[in-house]
Amino acid sequence: MIKKRYTVTAALPYANGPIHIGHLAGAYVPADIFSRYLRLCNHDVAFICGSDEHGAAIPIRAKKDGISPQEVIDKYHLLIKKSFSDFGISFDNYSRTSSKIHHETAKEFFKDLHSKNVFIEKESEQLYDEAENQFLADRYVEGECPKCGFKEAYGDQCESCGSSLNATDLINPRSKLSGNKPVFKKTKHWFLPLDNFESFLKKWFLKDNKDKWKINVLGQVKSWINEGLKPRAITRDLDWGVPVPLNEAKNKVLYVWFDAPIGYISSTKEWALLTNKDWKPYWKDPETKLVHFIGKDNIVFHCIIFPSILKASEDYILPDNVPANEFLNLEGRKISTSKNWAIWLHEYLLDFPEMQDILRYCLTSNAPENKDNDFTWKDFQAKNNNELVAIFGNFINRVVVLTHKYFEGNSPDKIEINDSDKEILQEIYKYPKLIGELIENYKFRDAANTLIDLARVGNKFLADQEPWKLFKTGDLERVKTIMNISLQICAILGLVCDPFMPSTSKKLKSILNLGHISWKDISLENPINLNRINKAELIFRKIEDEEIERQLQKLNEAK
Ligand code: MF3
Ligand code: ZN
Repeated sequence: MIKKRYTVTAALPYANGPIHIGHLAGAYVPADIFSRYLRLCNHDVAFICGSDEHGAAIPIRAKKDGISPQEVIDKYHLLIKKSFSDFGISFDNYSRTSSKIHHETAKEFFKDLHSKNVFIEKESEQLYDEAENQFLADRYVEGECPKCGFKEAYGDQCESCGSSLNATDLINPRSKLSGNKPVFKKTKHWFLPLDNFESFLKKWFLKDNKDKWKINVLGQVKSWINEGLKPRAITRDLDWGVPVPLNEAKNKVLYVWFDAPIGYISSTKEWALLTNKDWKPYWKDPETKLVHFIGKDNIVFHCIIFPSILKASEDYILPDNVPANEFLNLEGRKISTSKNWAIWLHEYLLDFPEMQDILRYCLTSNAPENKDNDFTWKDFQAKNNNELVAIFGNFINRVVVLTHKYFEGNSPDKIEINDSDKEILQEIYKYPKLIGELIENYKFRDAANTLIDLARVGNKFLADQEPWKLFKTGDLERVKTIMNISLQICAILGLVCDPFMPSTSKKLKSILNLGHISWKDISLENPINLNRINKAELIFRKIEDEEIERQLQKLNEAK
């Protein structure tokens, strides 16, 4: 197998609030499954993320909480970083955009493009809050979306229809700071003339790679390009952000969506410094595959704006794919931080300790891959109790217990296999390839469900063969064969569940005394031989009705 290099990124979360299940399902869980899978295939992977600490979201939060923007980012950066790590998201580096290395990298990008005359400088009328003496862009201003009429669209984006906006496009704008109606005031800004990138984007995105993208991603990008690309301001009159590195640009900072994606590069640089690696091949070698995991509200930035910036910077690679997910709703309603309608990761980890894998599995098997989806606590309970406990856990438990009962924990070898055994062996060894291909094609839902199918195959095999009857009638040779095959199914399950449920995989491998096996080495030609196995331990536990009711109550109290 050829070893490939991958740079995998997951959207940098704003450090203005904790992580919730919508974030997880949208970007972090699929990105983690993908990265873990690639590592198990022995590829060279840099899985990169960090906190997005600029943009209006931060000072607005600070004002609301009565603390400084620095206090906001420090608080949430640590909380987010810890909750990701406790949840088992296996970033190779988790950085932050307030870091020195990021400020320097972002400034370098700007300076380089400025010197190549990529930008245009323009004076224009922008919204201004006279009471606060501040220009209003992005999240500082709200109003009616000119595209869909949604009343609470932000100055940069409508969260209802997903359109990306300019603050001056809003109908009846209001300042988020004072509530006042803004006035227009002249100011100079630097613009990225996206219209100049139209032919590049049409060729690269809509033509050369058109079959690669997910339908939802292609649809959004097409409609953006077809509506006509316009120059987009990449600087702001703000005091929070990366300062524009030009003498003539006092009190101006880079637009958060200019600097944040560059955060992927600075985080890679930071990682390379820490690990004695060269960051450049991860961003400049055309053989490297760059994959951005994001939610659908980030599509234009990762498919149009950032690629244009990378293209203009010349020697950077472009994303190989941007498998953006749709949104996850919660109990039939849109997840909302401000309305506290969410399941917060750090709270989940307290309420369900040692149950990271359950949430990972539920968010994956019900991932909003092609359409918005709904998370319900009842579903969560059902998936755990009916799939993980009743199918997966039950199969493993039966095999381990029977092996101890019949063979004192020794995996029987030198077995005689008949034609139907041959068929079952052929079938079970197809699963690693099947699941791997689904992951490689960003079909994580199908992959997780296929994993459970393998456990179903195991259960059916046991039910059909009834080793307990044969043991009683004294056909020990046949029992050996059945248990050997069953143990092979357990081992395959233990290996292929790793990207989805890493703690479960670890437990299973320890029960089975199974060392590291590369994903691509699991094959019929190279069957897994187990020796002694350890005693059964609880892999999944049932979730009781009361636990679910408590969560539902908590949710309803919070709103
Ligand atoms: N902070 C943004 C959000 O939560 C995502 C930034 S992704 C990056 O929507 F590419 F800019 F880093
Ligand atoms: Zn809209």
